[in-house]
Amino acid sequence: MNGPEDPRIERLRVRREEALLGGGPEAIARQHERGKLTARERIDLLLDPGTFEELDPFKVHRCRDFGMDARQVPGDGVVTGLGRVAGRVTAVFAQDFTVFGGSLSGANAEKVVKLMDLALKVGCPVVGLNDSGGARIQEGVVSLGGYADIFLRNTLASGVIPQISAVMGPCAGGAVYSPAITDFIVMVEGTSYMYVTGPAVTKTVTHEEVTHEELGGAVTHSERSGVAHFRAPDDAGAIATLQRLLAYLPQNNAETPPPGPGTDDPNRVDDRLNALVPEDPNKPYDMREVIRRIVDDGDFLEVHEHYAQNLVVGFAHLGGRTVGIVGNQPQVLAGCLDVAASLKGARFVRFCDCFNIPLVTFEDVPGFLPGTDQEWSGIIKHGAKLLYAYCEATVPKLTVITRKAYGGAYDVMSSKHIRGDWNVAWPGAEVAVMGAKGAVEVIFRRQIQAAADPAAEQARLEAEYRERFANPFVAAERGYLDDVIEPRLTRPRLIAALALLETKRDHNPPKKHGNIPL
Ligand code: HXC
Repeated sequence: MNGPEDPRIERLRVRREEALLGGGPEAIARQHERGKLTARERIDLLLDPGTFEELDPFKVHRCRDFGMDARQVPGDGVVTGLGRVAGRVTAVFAQDFTVFGGSLSGANAEKVVKLMDLALKVGCPVVGLNDSGGARIQEGVVSLGGYADIFLRNTLASGVIPQISAVMGPCAGGAVYSPAITDFIVMVEGTSYMYVTGPAVTKTVTHEEVTHEELGGAVTHSERSGVAHFRAPDDAGAIATLQRLLAYLPQNNAETPPPGPGTDDPNRVDDRLNALVPEDPNKPYDMREVIRRIVDDGDFLEVHEHYAQNLVVGFAHLGGRTVGIVGNQPQVLAGCLDVAASLKGARFVRFCDCFNIPLVTFEDVPGFLPGTDQEWSGIIKHGAKLLYAYCEATVPKLTVITRKAYGGAYDVMSSKHIRGDWNVAWPGAEVAVMGAKGAVEVIFRRQIQAAADPAAEQARLEAEYRERFANPFVAAERGYLDDVIEPRLTRPRLIAALALLETKRDHNPPKKHGNIPL
């Protein structure tokens, strides 16, 4: 026991110490000066303490050009392995900017590929922490091949295991396409950016002067482009978002999500809901408030919070079960569906369907947004994506019409006709082809023009139309609605319906894959 230390063990220790240091103390200090954590610090924050099993800490690149043979750093700029988040197995890779700028070499890509292949076999989520100068320039096409190997894995794993990306530094050029294929992207404000072509080339080609931040920062991508689903003020905030998100998700497409932590009474009623929707159909209210009042403990993880705010999507628990919530937001564009909202909704609905997460839709939609901008931007094909996504989804689908359900948007928003399982409305709901004013102007145009007092005639006809059609009972009488419910009872009724639908199974006809209108 007291003899000299085995030199082989000593060598292992030295090499491990070396690997743990990445690019060395100076590079680590520079990383901290930029306000960023290192790859290992990020992993430590993400995973439960002591659970990280690292893979390939000694792997090095095989490049012999440009003096690279003299520059070997164990791990080669990416830290990979399995660990646990809140007790659940999670695969993680973290690009290490302190080593060759986190750039992707052939060896570096092999580590990520090995991890992803393992995650697919284990059936656990993959979290990628991105912070990289892109392709390892010294390796040329070997690096490009490495990217393609990863893109292929991202695609094959899509819909099988959840894949989540945090962008915590540069992510440029073709490198953006790995996060882009994953299910969710979290970006850090101020220190991360994503673009296919940076400010310098942009200036040369289009003469636009734009900063990194404006072109591809967290605010740009979470508000304008919709590339990022979440943004966080710093690295720790981004990692907290990853942990919060993972808590709603199953490990893979053969499992159901874990139960929520809440203690909220499933039978809790909320009297305020009976009066929350204004009587005047043109007055807005906050659909987020409706959602928060209904879900467990008011806890709602909004996805794409800053993008296409006319549609609200996100995760919550209802009676402890994870649900994906989609709600029209009357506060923004009166809740109309437009191109951005259709894209946002379609992607979210498809994610939930992939991963056995029931969909709960709160509907108050006056229709699709009119205008040349929308038509020329392809609202036809983009709106069709949302319709297609809802039609194709086989998870339990529950719909609550809180007010308007007009026109094509009525069909799209998880209607009975496209396999809604439990479709109900609040008593003030208006289920019709269009609003009373528009309808009357079309069908009684001549009658109104011929009247002694056209305005009075129009008002009379609108009132008649509203009385006849702007209510939920025409739809309920035909079975297009399963019930009309008191708003205050929405939470207990939804929870009861979810429980009854737990064993629902439905299948689409066998096919290679459908052809969603992309
Ligand atoms: C090799 C790289 C590198 C890269 C950075 N480094 N990017 N090494 N290949 N792509 C190295 C630097 O040489 C430096 O090494 C260290 O990382 C830190 O970089 P700095 O430039 O000092 O850091 P900073 O000032 O913060 O600038 C970060 C940066 C810049 C903006 C990312 O490094 C940069 O512009 N890099 C090149 C980006 C690029 O053009 N990548 C290729 C894109 S094309 P030392 O030894 O000095 O510390 C691409 C195609 C992918 O990625 C295609 C997939 C299909």
